[in-house]
Order: sequence, then structure tokens, then C-alpha cells
Amino acid sequence: MSKAEEHPLPSYTHPPSPQVTKRNKRFCVLAMLAGMFLFGLNFRSALRVTSLKPYMGCGKGRLHTRPRPHYTLPSGDKIPSVALGVWQASKGEVGQAVKAALAAGYRHIDDAWAYGNEKEVGDAIKESGIPREDIFITSKLWNSFHAPEDIEASLDESLSRLQISYLDLYLIHWPIAFKKEPYEKERKIVVDVALTENPYPTWKKLEELVDKGKIRNIGVSNFNVWRYENLTSNPLKYRPAVNQVELSFGNPQPELLAWAKLKGVLLEAYSPLGSSRQVKETLELPIIKKVAKDLGLTPAQVIISWHVQRGVVVLPKSVHENRIQENFKIVALPQEQFNLIERAAVSKPPQRVVNPSKGWGLDYDIFA
Ligand SMILES: NC(=O)c1ccc[n+]([C@@H]2O[C@H](COP(=O)([O-])OP(=O)(O)OC[C@H]3O[C@@H](n4cnc5c(N)ncnc54)[C@H](OP(=O)(O)O)[C@@H]3O)[C@@H](O)[C@H]2O)c1
Ligand SMILES: *[C@@H]1O[C@H](CO)[C@@H](O)[C@H](O)[C@H]1NC(C)=O
Repeated sequence: MSKAEEHPLPSYTHPPSPQVTKRNKRFCVLAMLAGMFLFGLNFRSALRVTSLKPYMGCGKGRLHTRPRPHYTLPSGDKIPSVALGVWQASKGEVGQAVKAALAAGYRHIDDAWAYGNEKEVGDAIKESGIPREDIFITSKLWNSFHAPEDIEASLDESLSRLQISYLDLYLIHWPIAFKKEPYEKERKIVVDVALTENPYPTWKKLEELVDKGKIRNIGVSNFNVWRYENLTSNPLKYRPAVNQVELSFGNPQPELLAWAKLKGVLLEAYSPLGSSRQVKETLELPIIKKVAKDLGLTPAQVIISWHVQRGVVVLPKSVHENRIQENFKIVALPQEQFNLIERAAVSKPPQRVVNPSKGWGLDYDIFA
């Protein structure tokens, strides 16, 4: 039996103990200065950001929150905290994975046009017999369809493959626009510089498709702070519902998380276990294994619970039924263990797993 109280979705009830952690003045001052100079925050805002860093002892424990079964989006829609990710879930196995997830209680699937598996995912959803409206379905607009005139056709393709009439969430997959023709014909990447530097035309078209009823919520993915601020400085009808980014023990992005909390931006954690490249070493980290042992959980459950408790949506991917079930068991970590993991994660050089900048021939880093 687990020593941590278990709270299967969707009924978390056990709030964490409201302890106040020790202070670490030097870190707090540095974090405040970073907030003021890097993100241009005023003193008051910087103070608020640093108070979100209770694991460093700046505040009253606000980062360590009660895990929530869902978050509420600006539209009022509820998004379940845990989704099944289906990137690299290949033909012949992704459908089984989706069925296993739905049977285990997942009601949120994170897909994308580029994953090439929307048809099999759609088949599985249909065969599950679960009403469409009970499942939160995300897909993403690929880089080669950012031109306003290309978006609706690509969205329609996703909808028809998924065999649904609307998406719950549609994300701009990357803050990079490729010119459609050479990419479609020969997978040749030519960056559309204007649309990359200013994605507002893409966003306006997405807003139109919301009004048309084909999408319930729109958001972005892989946007860093300045790209996000650039887009949202425009007069938006709908602001981004989420920003889906890499968040893991290896790449915990504490500054981005603090910024998101300050701005009220909901983050979604992709590659939450470290992706196929880092999952093994992440789950074997002594600190994760120790917390897991102490709480009677598995290392993956510890990591996923930590993510939800950071206040983000988490998208673990697996094609194995036992792991899919394992990954859905979220608990409220006691504050002490939460802080232990948080501190260990942020006090080492970050290691990003997903970065296609070079592969796409860019002469800059997408995340810089
Ligand atoms: N927006 C973006 O640009 C972007 C980029 C990357 C990912 N994503 C989304 O985020 C999702 C998750 O990211 P990800 O797939 O990169 O990485 P991940 O979920 O961190 O890790 C997946 C890897 O962990 C293994 N695994 C899963 N649960 C496990 C467990 N309990 N014990 C041991 N191993 C386990 C999986 O193996 P098996 O499948 O063999 O079990 C797979 O190799 C994606 O599927 C996608 O939906 C989005
Ligand atoms: C976003 O950045 C682009 C390129 O620098 C610029 O042309 C555009 O005006 C910016 N948008 C806003 C709203 O600031």
C-alpha cells in the first residue's frame, strides 16, 4: 500500500501540508533580479515570481499545490491534467495504447498532424464507445501550413482522420513557418521568415476557426517567452489557452514556469519522463528511486505527480498497457518530497531532449 495518500483522477481531496520552507536569500534575490532584467518585470511582479519559488525558500509554498484533476481554460472548458501522448507511437500499436488509456480512465489524448497516426487514434476513440464529448482531443498545426490560406484544409484533414467534427485544442506546433510547396513536394525546408517572425496572421485564422466551431480552444507549443509576448501583444480575440513545452526532471525550466504562473499561462509538459532518450536514466536517478520507495510508488508515478503538482498538464507517452495504467496514478506528494525533487531538478545544468533547430537547418536556436 502506498504511504502517500492516493488520489485517482478525478477526485483529489487531500491538500498538502501548508509548511513554510526555509529561506534561501541569495537565490531569491537573484531570481528577482532575473525577473526584473530578463523579463522586464517591475519590482512588485518580480517579488510575486520569486514567491512562486518556495522550494528555494522565497515564499509560502505556492509552487507546491494540490494536484488537480483538471484545469479550467480561458474558454471555461476543463482540460484533464494528464493526457496520453502519442508521438512515436507507431502504426499497429497506437490504437491499442489509446484504448488501454481510455479504459484506464484517461480522457485526454495529445496528438498532432505530424505524428501521422490520427487515423488509428480516431478509430480507437470510436471503438472505445466513450462519447466524443467526454474526451479532450488535441492536435497540432504543422509548420508547413501556417499560411492563413492553408490552415483550414490541414485542420480538416486532422478532423477527418480523427473522425470528429471539432478539436478541443489546436496548437501551433512550432513557432516556425515552412513554405508549403517545397516542403510538401520534397520535404525541403524553406523558412517563411515573415510568418515566423510575426505569427499573428496564423493566429487570426485560428480564431476564425474557433468561431466556425471547428476548434474549441487554440494554443501554442514550443514558444519561448519573447515569442509568446510578441504574439500576445497583438489585439487577440482569444489568447493562447496553453503553451506546450518540454518540461522534465532533466529540463525543468523553472524560470519559464514562474513566468507562466505570473502571467496566468497554462503550460503543458511534453517529454515529461525525459522522452525515449532520457527516460531510463531519469527513472533510475537515486533521488527519484528513494522518493518512490519511501512513498510506495514507482519512479514514473513520482515524476508525473511532481509535474501535476507544479501546476502543469502532463503528457506521458507509452504504448504498454501496464505503463499506461501506472502513469495515470497521480498522488499528492508531501511537500518535503516535492521540494526535494524540485530542488534537485533545478540545481543542475538543464538538458533539453527535443530541439530540431539544427535538423531544420536554422542558423539560430528556436528556444533562444
Ligand atoms: N509539442 C511538441 O513539440 C512535442 C514534442 C515532444 C513530445 N510531445 C508530446 O508529449 C508526449 C510525451 O513526450 P515523449 O513521448 O517525448 O516522452 P515521454 O512521455 O517523456 O517518454 C516516453 C518514453 O518513456 C517510456 N515510458 C513511458 N512510461 C514509462 C514507464 N512507466 N516506465 C518506463 N518507461 C516508460 C516510453 O516507452 P514505451 O512507449 O515503450 O512504453 C517512451 O520510450 C508525446 O507523445 C507528444 O504527445 C510534444
Ligand atoms: C512581433 O515581432 C515582429 C518581428 O520583429 C514585429 O514585426 C511585430 O510588430 C511584433 N509584433 C508585436 C505585436 O509587437
